[in-house]
Amino acid sequence: MQDFQDKIICDDCIKVLNQVRSPFADLIFADPPFNIGYKYDKYHDKKEKEHYIDWTRKWMIACCNVLKPTGSFYIAIGDDYAANVKIIADALGLFMRNWIIWHYTFGQQTKDKFARSHTHIFYFVKDKKNFTFNDDAVRTPSDRQLIYNDKRANPAGKMPDDVWDSFMPDDVWDSFPRVCGTFKERQGWHPCQMPERLLARIIRVSSMEKGWVLDPFSGSGTTAVVSSKLDRHYTGIELSSEYAAESRKRIKEFGKSAIEGESPIKWTKQLDTELKQLYHENKIPTDQLDDHYYLLTRFTEMFNNYIGNKSNIVNQIEIKKRLKQLRKSGKLGALHGEKPQTIKAS
Ligand SMILES: C[S@@+](CC[C@H](N)C(=O)[O-])C[C@H]1O[C@@H](n2cnc3c(N)ncnc32)[C@H](O)[C@@H]1O
Repeated sequence: MQDFQDKIICDDCIKVLNQVRSPFADLIFADPPFNIGYKYDKYHDKKEKEHYIDWTRKWMIACCNVLKPTGSFYIAIGDDYAANVKIIADALGLFMRNWIIWHYTFGQQTKDKFARSHTHIFYFVKDKKNFTFNDDAVRTPSDRQLIYNDKRANPAGKMPDDVWDSFMPDDVWDSFPRVCGTFKERQGWHPCQMPERLLARIIRVSSMEKGWVLDPFSGSGTTAVVSSKLDRHYTGIELSSEYAAESRKRIKEFGKSAIEGESPIKWTKQLDTELKQLYHENKIPTDQLDDHYYLLTRFTEMFNNYIGNKSNIVNQIEIKKRLKQLRKSGKLGALHGEKPQTIKAS
């Protein structure tokens, strides 16, 4: 089994996993083709319904057989087959802990029905009493902490809910934008890449450092690259030799850097200029932005829209810090009618 560790295997996942004799995976994340006609390099994504359901059962069984008794199993799936996945999981004795909805904007446009803008992510465990759940690793700041400065707030923050949104204007920590064309993390050679931030939440909460994460439909290698970044072992299985080769390169290049969208922003001259410009257009002094979280959040949201790069979302803390630095160095400039801004070094 060690042969599989930290590898992207190019093969059919059912074939590979059926050869394994003992469970090894602490966490499985599966994002199979949804049978909606996506254009993959090798896989044909438009099968007969019964064939697809039968195939889904087979790979889910193969995954269950390699999942440790304390393991967690996440499955991303579209509307058409979500119910089938749940029925198969029940029959396999899996216990559902959450039925997560990942809601995103920039979905496909439609004329004759409502536009599709979500994906289902099932969160199952094998043993409902014995599993890994690192809540502290995924808590986000609560309104009580951020807005109301309420002393009763849990200092560790709040648990996110089961709808994961692409962009929460009031909560950049809780935002999971889809990987769009202009995003820095986008690997142009794969049609449906998952965002690193989304995988990071799942891997952090449901596995320990040095634990083993399996992705039977590895695609562009997102699960593997994020596992490597978070110091977990990984195995990815991918049918296409081109995707497998490209994802190995991706892991080599980025496997030790920060999670995309979480990395502290590099304040280039251009970004500073845009920040100053927005600040002067917006006309809200820094002390008010400091004191009113709501204003800071709106400003942060405007800035993210302004720079138009949501793969590297700037959060409120970074904005606040940068405005303070610019102000301290006298580079921010006073707002119209305001006294020149200088602040003492803290
Ligand atoms: C929805 S994509 C996965 C995308 C991935 N989550 C990412 O972030 O890049 C599904 C992938 O499964 C692969 N695939 C299809 N059938 C497979 C099989 N039987 N075994 C392994 N991989 C398969 C396809 O080539 C495709 O790259």
